[in-house]
Amino acid sequence: MAGELRIALGADHGGVQLKDAIVSHLGARSGVVISDLGTCDESVDYPDFADKVATAILDGTADLGILVCGTGIGISIRANRYDGIRAALVHNEFTAEMTKAHNNANVLCLGGRVVPTELALKLVDIWLDTPFEGGRHQKRIDKLG
Ligand code: RB5
Repeated sequence: MAGELRIALGADHGGVQLKDAIVSHLGARSGVVISDLGTCDESVDYPDFADKVATAILDGTADLGILVCGTGIGISIRANRYDGIRAALVHNEFTAEMTKAHNNANVLCLGGRVVPTELALKLVDIWLDTPFEGGRHQKRIDKLG
């Protein structure tokens, strides 16, 4: 539906629990449509799920993405290999806010074995609720591609 924010989520086995908690959390948020791209399996390769979410954004089926692996590191490295993806690994409120305000990150990455669930849900909300400041930050983003 027009005006809805489409968010694609992906995780490996190290992030699946947190990813599922985020799916439930976002389900209670109005104006959001979620695509859960997995995993549901016990042992998978995190690049495959970074690929699914990055592709969903780049082909226009999602506006934003959330990726979770054990540390958030591997999945963010892979997602950032795509031109047009700005994947940010965050651990606290300040980085969650700044990565939208200054970097306009279109993918939020979290470590399922690093960040407690309650904090992670807060970071997701901060990232979604923070507007991009544009201006000089857009000029800097333009140099990333
Ligand atoms: C999987 O055991 C683990 O390596 C992965 O979830 C992630 O932390 C990689 O960066």
